[in-house]
Amino acid sequence: MGSLAEKPNFKMAKLSISKNTNELFHNVAEYFRRLSAAAIQERGKFHVALAGGGTPGGLYKLLASEKYSKSINWRHTLFYFGDERAVPLDHAQSNFRMAHAAMLDALAIPATNIFPLLTDLDNLENSARHYEKIVQRELPAGGGHIPAFDLILLGMGDDGHTASLFPDSTILTEQSRLVAPVYVDKLRSWRLSFTYPLINHARHVVIMVSGKAKAEKLKQVLADKDGGNPIARIQPRGELTWFIDADAASRLPPEIRKSKLIE
Ligand code: 6PG
Repeated sequence: MGSLAEKPNFKMAKLSISKNTNELFHNVAEYFRRLSAAAIQERGKFHVALAGGGTPGGLYKLLASEKYSKSINWRHTLFYFGDERAVPLDHAQSNFRMAHAAMLDALAIPATNIFPLLTDLDNLENSARHYEKIVQRELPAGGGHIPAFDLILLGMGDDGHTASLFPDSTILTEQSRLVAPVYVDKLRSWRLSFTYPLINHARHVVIMVSGKAKAEKLKQVLADKDGGNPIARIQPRGELTWFIDADAASRLPPEIRKSKLIE
């Protein structure tokens, strides 16, 4: 297990730079629609893991809007959660609650198509192991028998975390489990999260980054190749696409912005 400081060896990742957050959400929604149609056509279902936090709410509302609610086959779309806070599912901090409020209720997604990550608040180990079994049962195995999500949506914190893979947290060295509990010192709270093995076996991974507050960190990750950021080790077997807005891209050197690709 190399140290985090190793330079990330990004395979060719794609970079989509939008004028603003709205355009970013439209670009991701279009990508989501295309992926879901292809997955359902080829394999009968679309398995997607949702991101938490504040950014994706706008995307989820767009997916539930007139424009997308009728152009995506929701009946064959199965929803999972890439990470979750260790709070009740109806708590203001819950990613499950946020996704329901922004999209799942409006689309009337049946409960059988939604897999909450937190199933036992009193025993996070049980929740993690239970979720691994669900993922292994529901998803086709990818390389090395690790289940392959069709799409995993992620955000990026201004400290370079993604999902609940926070700097200096124990989960960063997890190489065999697919889902694990993690105590986040800076937040003084527990979370559940997908691990690198599960995320990096996805067919497609999307990272959404919006706003000036993330510009410096994004430059460190994409231009300076600073391997010390947990998100730098998101290097999926499949396709990685960064969807960012102009504010978040404002510190990136022109050669990266022009190339739309990240070495
Ligand atoms: C969470 C998310 C987390 C999020 C980043 C960015 O549960 O909070 O999964 O990883 O994506 O913290 O959050 P914002 O989009 O709110 O900046």
